[in-house]
Amino acid sequence: MNSIIRKLFYAMPIPMRYGIRRIIYFPADIFRDKKLLMPPKGLIFTGSGDYLKVGQNFFNHFQKYGRLTPDSKVLDIGSGIGRMAIPFTPYLSSEGRYEGFDIVKKGVDWCTKNISSQFPNFNFKLIPLHNDLYNHSTEDKAASLRFPYSENYFDFVFLTSVFTHMMPDDVENYIVEIRRVLQRDKICFCTFFILDEKSKTSMSQNGLKNFPHDFKNYSLMDRDVKEANVAYDKEFLYSLFEKHQLQITHFIRGNWSGVTPGDLNEHQDILIIKKI
Ligand SMILES: C[S@@+](CC[C@H](N)C(=O)[O-])C[C@H]1O[C@@H](n2cnc3c(N)ncnc32)[C@H](O)[C@@H]1O
Repeated sequence: MNSIIRKLFYAMPIPMRYGIRRIIYFPADIFRDKKLLMPPKGLIFTGSGDYLKVGQNFFNHFQKYGRLTPDSKVLDIGSGIGRMAIPFTPYLSSEGRYEGFDIVKKGVDWCTKNISSQFPNFNFKLIPLHNDLYNHSTEDKAASLRFPYSENYFDFVFLTSVFTHMMPDDVENYIVEIRRVLQRDKICFCTFFILDEKSKTSMSQNGLKNFPHDFKNYSLMDRDVKEANVAYDKEFLYSLFEKHQLQITHFIRGNWSGVTPGDLNEHQDILIIKKI
């Protein structure tokens, strides 16, 4: 999206954004294959790209780094409209468990109606929290949320394109909560926009994204809609994980900044985190 279109898009009230999407994709959605487990395109509010392909690619990454088994207990933080959940449906056994939560009702409702109805070990919760981009209906903050799950329950936790929409206090609280609900030695897979010397130098010249508004530990793409896109200083982020006894085992660079990406060739940077 070029920057003028992005500005216009962000300036619209949230329901108008959703409404425009519904109208644009209406013709394609009428003729879609209704047997496919996926939402109509007009309902997908969680990013562009091929919905099924992106989900399958990430599922392959989760298998590579997450030490998944069919009996895994998986937590999908910011589960959106089910893009990451769908590839797990043929994989998890009836002993396995999939929990997702999100702040947007539309996505949680679609997942409950279309995924949980067929796969009862998949559960999606609505936790309404304020977000500049996604939810203006409450002032409740992610910084105060206690995840509604018990200690040491999950053996795999992931966030795809969620920390990229969250401010520092909120991110820190989620790190604390991830540590609490994750079993020891198990993995959290999460994506970020990470600012180091290379990405900072490259992004304004060669980047697919740029973060010109520098607030020291983090930078923003848009000052007015802060949570539309947030990038984090690498040292700050690493110190947060260290402070909460989570070990970063891999940093896999994405292509957003124009620096040559790592082998997964994703848009966002990926951190693989282990609870120690
Ligand atoms: C770009 S979408 C990605 C959705 C999903 N993870 C995926 O990859 O398809 C970002 C999602 O994060 C959710 N989100 C934003 N802030 C959140 C928060 N504090 N807690 C949980 N979800 C949040 C949004 O509602 C939205 O569904």
